[in-house]
Order: sequence, then C-alpha cells, then structure tokens
Amino acid sequence: MEVVHTPEALADVPVGRLVFVPTMGALHAGHLSLVDRGRALGDVVVSIFVNPTQFGPGEDFEAYPRNLDRDLALLEPLGVKAVFVPSVEQMYGRPDGVSVQPGHRAAGLCGGGRPGHFAGVLTVVAKLFGLVRPEVAVFGRKDAQQCLVIDQMVRELHLPVALIDAPTTRETDGLAMSSRNAYLDPGERARALGLHRALAAGRALLADGQRNRASLVEAMMTELAAWTDPEYAEVRRVPDLECDDTVTGRVLLAVAARVGRTRLIDNFVLDLEPGGVTDAPLLDYGSMA
Ligand code: PAJ
Repeated sequence: MEVVHTPEALADVPVGRLVFVPTMGALHAGHLSLVDRGRALGDVVVSIFVNPTQFGPGEDFEAYPRNLDRDLALLEPLGVKAVFVPSVEQMYGRPDGVSVQPGHRAAGLCGGGRPGHFAGVLTVVAKLFGLVRPEVAVFGRKDAQQCLVIDQMVRELHLPVALIDAPTTRETDGLAMSSRNAYLDPGERARALGLHRALAAGRALLADGQRNRASLVEAMMTELAAWTDPEYAEVRRVPDLECDDTVTGRVLLAVAARVGRTRLIDNFVLDLEPGGVTDAPLLDYGSMA
C-alpha cells in the first residue's frame, strides 16, 4: 500500500480499474466496508483529507479526530493500492478560488442547517475526482443527501465516474457508525439510539400502510425528541429529494439531532411496495458500476 502526499506521486501509482473511496479519516468499520465494496470492483485508492470548506463557523473542524497512523494500519490489511493524503495548501491554493455550488437537492435537510456545507463537499470531491480520476467512486448511504448532491453534480457536469452508495454499517444495537460517535459519553451514547428509534418508528408506520407524510414526520419527530435535541425528521422522495404529501415509490427517511454537543445524522432508504417495505439503494448507475 503506497501512501502519497502529492498529486505527482499519486499519478505514479500503477492502477487498473480505479475505484475511489474519499474519506476524512478517523476510520471505522463503515469506511472499511466501502473499501471492501470497492475491492470487489477494482484497485482501490482511499483519500484522507479533513476538508475545511465543508465545516461551518463554530463546527468541529479543529477538533475533528485525526490519527493517520491508526487509519493507515486499518487500511493496510485490506489490499488498498494507495492512500492519498494531501495538505490543505495543495487542495486549496487561494481562498477565492473556484467552488462548486450544489443544485436543488441540497435544499433542506442538512443543507438547511449547515449553509455552505454541500458547496464545500462538492468542491473537494470535484478536486479529488480531477486528481484521482476514478472510474468508480464509493460513498456511504449513511450520508444520503451527500450521495444525492454528488450524484447531481456528476450527472449535470457530465463527470466520467460511476457512483455507488454502500449500505450503512451499524453497531449491533442499530446506531449508525460515525467518526463523531467518539465524542459521546456513555449517557449520550444511549440517547444517540433515538435517531435509529425515530427511523424505526417511521418504517413501522410505512409497513402498516401509512402514506401521509405529515403523520410520518410527526411520529418520527416525537420519538427523536424523546431522546435528543432534534434538528429535523424528514420524509423525501428519492432521488430528487422533493416533498410529497402522500409518499410513494422510493423514499428517504432522514433524521438529524444533537446529543449533548454532538450532531448526528441517520436515515433509511426504503421501497414502498404493495407487499411491504424493503431496503433500497439511493443511486442507479446500472452496469457502469
Ligand atoms: P467521512 O465522514 O469520513 O465519510 C467518508 C465516507 O464514509 C462517506 O461516503 C460516508 O458516507 C461513509 N460512511 C460514514 N459512515 C458510514 C457508515 N456507518 N456506513 C457506511 N458508510 C459510512 O463524507 C465525508 O467523509 C466527506 O464529506 C467526503 C465525502 C470525504 C468529502 O470531504
């Protein structure tokens, strides 16, 4: 496994079909599942870069966990071809450089509570795609809106990359794995399950045939508020993230909440069918991926 810090060194790594897994480090089993998924498709390049432009003022950019040696030790046994670890100076030459503005899919959900966040994500992902030039890139369904906002960029800018959304890796009790779970004390860790409980409440109502968006949102919000300081509970259409009064087809149940000072998100992507409710992917790149 080669660890490279410059675009020039990255370009020298021999690869076949290049599958890219971008991360901000502080790796956990969720990240490693993306690498596994990627390995089945080609030669995996992972990037580790805590991207300053996607953090808002007062967010946790400075405090974000960084431990490169530990991350590299986790990746080493997985058969990763290269790990790209650029510096902020390399990625952002000057503060008034080009940035990529997201489309309509960034409206609401995390785009509402974190203004500028998705522009930061798209800008860094576009730069990384330009440097790494992957055929395929793997993202986690855990960050559903991020997947769909990047998908809109790839489609509208005609970027030559196929995207895959890999399922969310969870702790045994259902908590979605997140680098930010490290901030939780034991009491907060218990309350953090409220996100999963809220999603489960929405799913149970859907399984019972409830299709009224407002009723679903209310039930999810009630459960979320019992455990956390909620930011949103939402039900949106996939892939365009529009709101329908009556839900149908493929839907995203999404929640965001603070537990103590830690902001957490989670979601379910579900297909609503006459016979029941089943887990579904967010993205469809057909045989390209
Ligand atoms: P980061 O939060 O480090 O996540 C890197 C990738 O891991 C993302 O695609 C994310 O969705 C995925 N991921 C996180 N938790 C997961 C889980 N429990 N199960 C499955 N996948 C999970 O997302 C980012 O970094 C950044 O915004 C980035 C895309 C790298 C741009 O800076």
